[in-house]
Amino acid sequence: MKYLTTILLTVSILPLSAQQIVINTEHTALVLRVDKDKRLHQTYLGKRLIHEKEYDMLSNMGEVCIANGNGDYFEPAFHISNNKGNETLVLKYVSHQVKKTEDNNTETVIVLSDEVRQNSVRLFYKTYSKEDVISTYAEIINGEQQPVYLYKYASALLHLNAEAYYLTQFNGDWAAEVGMTESRLGFGKKIIDSNLGTRTNMFASPFFVLSLEKNAEENTGKALIGTLGWTGNFRFTFEVDHENKLRVISGINPYNSKYELKVGETFKTPEFIFTYSERGTGEASRNIHSWARRHRVKDGQGERLTLLNNWEATYFDFNEKKIIALIDEAKTLGLDMFLLDDGWFGNKYPRNNDNAGLGDWQPNKKKLPNGLNALTAATAKKGIKFGLWIEPEMVNPKSELIEQHPDWAIAWNDRTQSYFRNQLVLDMSNPEVQAYVFNIIDGLLTTCPNISYFKWDCNSPMTNVYSAYEQSCQSHLFIDYVKGFYAVLDRLKTKYPHLPMMLCAGGGGRTDYEALRYFTEFWASDNTDPIDRLYIQWGYSYLFPAKTICSHVTAWNKKVDIKFKIDVAMMGKMGFDLNFSTLSKPDAEFCKYAVQTYNGIKDIIFEGNLYRLVSPYNNTHTASMFIDNASKRAVVFAFDIFPRYSKTAPQPLRLQGLQAAKMYRVKEINRYDGKEQKIGTFSGDYLMSIGLQAFTGKRLESHVFYLEE
Ligand code: DGJ
Repeated sequence: MKYLTTILLTVSILPLSAQQIVINTEHTALVLRVDKDKRLHQTYLGKRLIHEKEYDMLSNMGEVCIANGNGDYFEPAFHISNNKGNETLVLKYVSHQVKKTEDNNTETVIVLSDEVRQNSVRLFYKTYSKEDVISTYAEIINGEQQPVYLYKYASALLHLNAEAYYLTQFNGDWAAEVGMTESRLGFGKKIIDSNLGTRTNMFASPFFVLSLEKNAEENTGKALIGTLGWTGNFRFTFEVDHENKLRVISGINPYNSKYELKVGETFKTPEFIFTYSERGTGEASRNIHSWARRHRVKDGQGERLTLLNNWEATYFDFNEKKIIALIDEAKTLGLDMFLLDDGWFGNKYPRNNDNAGLGDWQPNKKKLPNGLNALTAATAKKGIKFGLWIEPEMVNPKSELIEQHPDWAIAWNDRTQSYFRNQLVLDMSNPEVQAYVFNIIDGLLTTCPNISYFKWDCNSPMTNVYSAYEQSCQSHLFIDYVKGFYAVLDRLKTKYPHLPMMLCAGGGGRTDYEALRYFTEFWASDNTDPIDRLYIQWGYSYLFPAKTICSHVTAWNKKVDIKFKIDVAMMGKMGFDLNFSTLSKPDAEFCKYAVQTYNGIKDIIFEGNLYRLVSPYNNTHTASMFIDNASKRAVVFAFDIFPRYSKTAPQPLRLQGLQAAKMYRVKEINRYDGKEQKIGTFSGDYLMSIGLQAFTGKRLESHVFYLEE
């Protein structure tokens, strides 16, 4: 009898009036249910079940579209008021539709509406089945006969229910990007956000890892990686309630961003993109990487150019002769491109330091008397490409641009202004400024058609936040700025669909997946100390595939040898930022050899699957490996950081992702002596169970191994 009662309790089937919406990828399901009052609930987020019918037995976890005043006691996703002071909204299900997308995935669109105020919200859920990624956003439509004001407008509200929640956040500062810290979430709210306007990820990155039940691990455990595709202010709110249930609200940071919607207008939120895995953070990252390459990053499956950048070689102090010498060096090294950085422009106010010239994008006649075309001619002669640094959203108060258009800068004029790096942000909410920025870049490409690449910098957050253009609605500025930025990028992408571009913001101050629709890669940090880079690149690897992470070899940290530096840079999109004449002959020769090595393995690093083997956060050793999709070729990078004196015989490094039954020939490559060394032939089983002697007890050594079936 007792047995029978249990069955009756658990097999409670879905009430007839309820309707279920199942959003599936290959291994993940998000299940929503409409109740008899037409309220939309989430009933599940987790591993996809074999029998869809069994979702019927699950109970409601919480509403999907919680708005202010609808009877919920915790943080709402939406807060929309009208002129009459009506602050409440109850969003009820109206209809939904599932469409097949061009890439053979699905998009589910759910319409909800408030019966009293006629405002509606459309929720979009796009699935990427093979990659186990779901992206979701909302459209808010003002159906009232009066303006409404958006105070909160989240992209997603997800409910989770687990014994414990561990949040990994990625934060830091200039030259210390994406430091990882994990903490257990307890009752109350934890917020990760940015209100910097531009260069928004200087302190906090717009992504997180959430681990359920136990601390995040690479190969086991339930992990959700989430990120917001928005190059402006963002906010993630994690709220644990009295029953230990967690809700995660992701979206634009509503800070100082009350947004007015006129009658009939629609507001589209940015995308929240997430993946869920029950096999740890390693698989979750690989999901996001595959999705990014196939579906998101500009030319995600295309080639990437190795390059020599002059920034750290010359800073502002260069002339045509010096640059041509560097172009020659780039060619000698076997690189694909030379990239000219900051300092090439400005005449009335020459850009000889960061005090002046931003905004005046004409080549400086003293440094470059023959203009940019003389340089592109030099690269063309050598058979390499030419790239150019720009920072088109910014202006120095000492510039001709600000003299001509004082109202184009975001700045108040009735009190002392404050500057970040002596500059102001141009008001990209203003269509005239958008046109100016587009024309600057288009003009450069027209007058100098051999420019094949841009590094687009953005060094300042917004200071003195006031827009002459948005006079009557200052609180629109943070949002309209980002829309203006995208409008320019859209025009550029339409006209130059395959122009590679590096996203840069004073190091890694802009790192989001909406910007990466327009950029092929991003500058991870101005910190190129190879030891720090091990941590920084490790952090970014949770979200971004290696081919998008620009990693340059520089003079930072003279105690570390060139091989170690290059081995670190090889784990991303490698480049150099060095004056080779400062290197010893053998070091310079090794650089040349290393470029050849890299060209032979970069397809595995760019298109393969990443396995993070040993975290640098243990401070003694770190290792990662990339393996191609057929599990035939792999590259292993192993670094000894600061092993303790007593640890002279480290344990073998166990590899991952190989096929146990396959035999792999292993050799050490990229050795300083230029000779490859055979290590032996081992089964995948052996390499994954016993491992490879990859670490040493010495400090600051590095080894690269190549495996082939
Ligand atoms: C900041 C970037 O991160 C650097 O790489 C360099 O381009 C400087 N700006 C130039 O001002």
